[in-house]
Amino acid sequence: PAPGWAITADVVVVGSGVAGLTAALRCEAVGLNTVVVTKARLDDGSTRWAQGGIAAALGEGDTPEQHLDDTLVAGAGLCDEDAVRLLVTEGPAAVRRLIDTGARFDESSEGALELTREGGHHRRRIAHAGGDATGAEISRALVEAVNEAIEAVNEARTSGTRTRGLRTIENALVLDLLTDADGRTAGVTLHVMGEGQHDGVGAVHAPAVVLATGGMGQVFSATTNPSVSTGDGVALALRAGAEVSDLEFVQFHPTVLFLGPDAEGQQPLVSEAVRGEGAHLVDAHGTRFMAGQHELAELAPRDIVAKGITRRMQELGAEHMYLDARHFGAAMWEHRFPTILAACRAHGIDPVTEPVPVAPAAHYASGGVRTDSRGRTTVPGLYACGEVACTGVHGANRLASNSLLEGLVYAERIAADIAASHAENGLHARVPQPVPYPQKPEHPLLEPEARFAIQRIMSQGAGVLRSAASLSAAAEALDQLHTDARDALDENGKTAEPGVDTWETTNLLCVARVLVAAARRREETRGCHWREDHADRDDTHWRRHIVVRLNPDRA
Ligand code: SIN
Repeated sequence: PAPGWAITADVVVVGSGVAGLTAALRCEAVGLNTVVVTKARLDDGSTRWAQGGIAAALGEGDTPEQHLDDTLVAGAGLCDEDAVRLLVTEGPAAVRRLIDTGARFDESSEGALELTREGGHHRRRIAHAGGDATGAEISRALVEAVNEAIEAVNEARTSGTRTRGLRTIENALVLDLLTDADGRTAGVTLHVMGEGQHDGVGAVHAPAVVLATGGMGQVFSATTNPSVSTGDGVALALRAGAEVSDLEFVQFHPTVLFLGPDAEGQQPLVSEAVRGEGAHLVDAHGTRFMAGQHELAELAPRDIVAKGITRRMQELGAEHMYLDARHFGAAMWEHRFPTILAACRAHGIDPVTEPVPVAPAAHYASGGVRTDSRGRTTVPGLYACGEVACTGVHGANRLASNSLLEGLVYAERIAADIAASHAENGLHARVPQPVPYPQKPEHPLLEPEARFAIQRIMSQGAGVLRSAASLSAAAEALDQLHTDARDALDENGKTAEPGVDTWETTNLLCVARVLVAAARRREETRGCHWREDHADRDDTHWRRHIVVRLNPDRA
């Protein structure tokens, strides 16, 4: 639909996790008029749910070079080494700046950062907060900093000393990218569900748009992601003709609390840090099945542990395995993992006295909107950072706790690039002139009920273990959903009633189809892409990326 209202800014940041809020704060700090739009509340995204922590070479004896090595090994031959180098070398200072912004990490009695281990790390290098509530603390600190910045801006405006600004629009689902006649970014359209000045479909006109919309875990039935993770940024980018890469590499977290075979939606995570502190993965007989499979056993990279669990489940015909950390004792559980302890107990499981049932579930999109080292996508003026982006640092399998770090480091790089280009071209040099929005619907919208069909299709056909047969069945079923919606549009111009549910469902279908197409093409097993019918890694043919760019007219 055509926007009913419009505002103008220098930068619009879409999303309010670690990446979005960091980008917004840094843009505001250099005088850019910045608007943050976010789908729910400022603190409702994946960042808040992150448990384990943020990885950086902060410990004694650790170096960025060692962090680089672990990241490259986990990425199974597909990381962009230069992108990883930026991540690990700029990471420690970026974490310190996050601390300066107000985030409080756990410290020893001597005041040193407490660092833990997770899968794929050969060293203790994961900083954490509140024991296992790192994301919640980062989110708290950044939201507070944003609110303080807004207050300072308002005060300065009142006293007439400053005109720059930072504002937030909550409950706003981004719809599409606006471009000008030269194909350059001119802003976004959004649907705001709220009261007040901006309601319904509107637009923020800006020459720079930063996508920080997070992941797409909701494309599967069981995921650690919150309900807002519906692939909106990747879908927007695809519709805008931007390049998207590596979507087949969906990371399944090995240890998600098993709540039954039909559990749907967001599931409680049991952090890798629990294994980092010495928990064992065991089967129903109490056998530690990861020992002997990898030199790091339970602390092997995440894809290897998820495969190990799935294989053992198949061998035994079991629905889950167990994580045994009874030896931690009550005091350690309470001090170190209070969030996980509470979640387990809320579901009637007491990790202090019994092993915790766990199984893999969708966790993280290693791929996303393709960017360069400054976070620039292939559409001029459109940037991406955080889970929505594919900067090249994760390759075929992200190393544990590199995601918060990537959001932080690349958001800062984006803010620096936008600031530099504004300085070069003169602030406000380009007032965005979006081409008029089409009056007729271009894309069929799906009924919200289709969301569950998409999730089941994806979980059956494109889950931890895939094959040509499972993927082509998934592709066919997804195509049918698209055809039904397009037929309705072509025949009578009708589409589902526009609204957040329908747009989210439409986005889920868009990203699911591209994900399945990429997974069908990659005829090998690498990182978190596991093909039953192509069980080996094939460096001769597949040490490359699958990059997708849709024709905007047919997206
Ligand atoms: C965890 O705490 O296990 C999650 C860490 C991550 O996703 O990197």
